[in-house]
Amino acid sequence: MIDINSAEFVISNTDPALCPDDNKPEYAFIGRSNVGKSSLINMLTNKRKLAMTSSTPGKTTLINHFIVNHSWYIVDLPGYGFAQRDKKRKKQIRNVIERYIEERQQMTCLFLLIDLRHDPQAIDLEFMRYLGENGVPFCIVFTKADKLKGGEQKPKLQRYIDALKKEWDELPPYFVTSSEKRIGRKELLSYIEEINLSISQTENTSSIN
Ligand code: GTP
Ligand code: MG
Repeated sequence: MIDINSAEFVISNTDPALCPDDNKPEYAFIGRSNVGKSSLINMLTNKRKLAMTSSTPGKTTLINHFIVNHSWYIVDLPGYGFAQRDKKRKKQIRNVIERYIEERQQMTCLFLLIDLRHDPQAIDLEFMRYLGENGVPFCIVFTKADKLKGGEQKPKLQRYIDALKKEWDELPPYFVTSSEKRIGRKELLSYIEEINLSISQTENTSSIN
């Protein structure tokens, strides 16, 4: 398995056009506010303070790029669906997210985070439909597994899978994680490694031809 030898903050902004343009593959983390995106990034990179986390929802408001092993990016995106009073602000954030997703060619896979404790929420199911309509490759990452007792995890997961099967013929890959207990790290990093390898093989082949 790849391990992460280095992970550094590169840039934060709201405009996808101003994100790094060196064409390295990137993996973005999205989901409702407070679902654990920034915590997961810190867990994956073994850096407790790389991405800013908070118990107050809405902490991340920008597109944040982190370079890993000098060769690929992790992107921390703002959370969606945070029940803010400020509707204009909410719309601005949604706009940042959608522009990033629709314009960013090097975004190789989007990890959609879902709190394993909760029943399927309309806002997440709608977001998946939006991804499907736009042909965005994504995986589901269930978070905060440590907050459920061992015996509760499987039925919760099954319930979610059943809900997804109602509208999707093919399920996206999914992972069960806990940043607190460091569950799912190996699986996620192996998945990313596979994609990175397939990209570099394609690049090698096209440079030979
Ligand atoms: P926004 O940036 O506001 O959209 O939130 P976020 O999705 O980045 O969430 P963040 O990582 O800041 O975590 C939100 C809260 O959940 C924090 O209090 C974290 O400590 C807690 N948290 C995140 N992941 C886990 C986990 O795996 N287990 C437990 N028990 N708590 C977690
Ligand atoms: Mg965050």
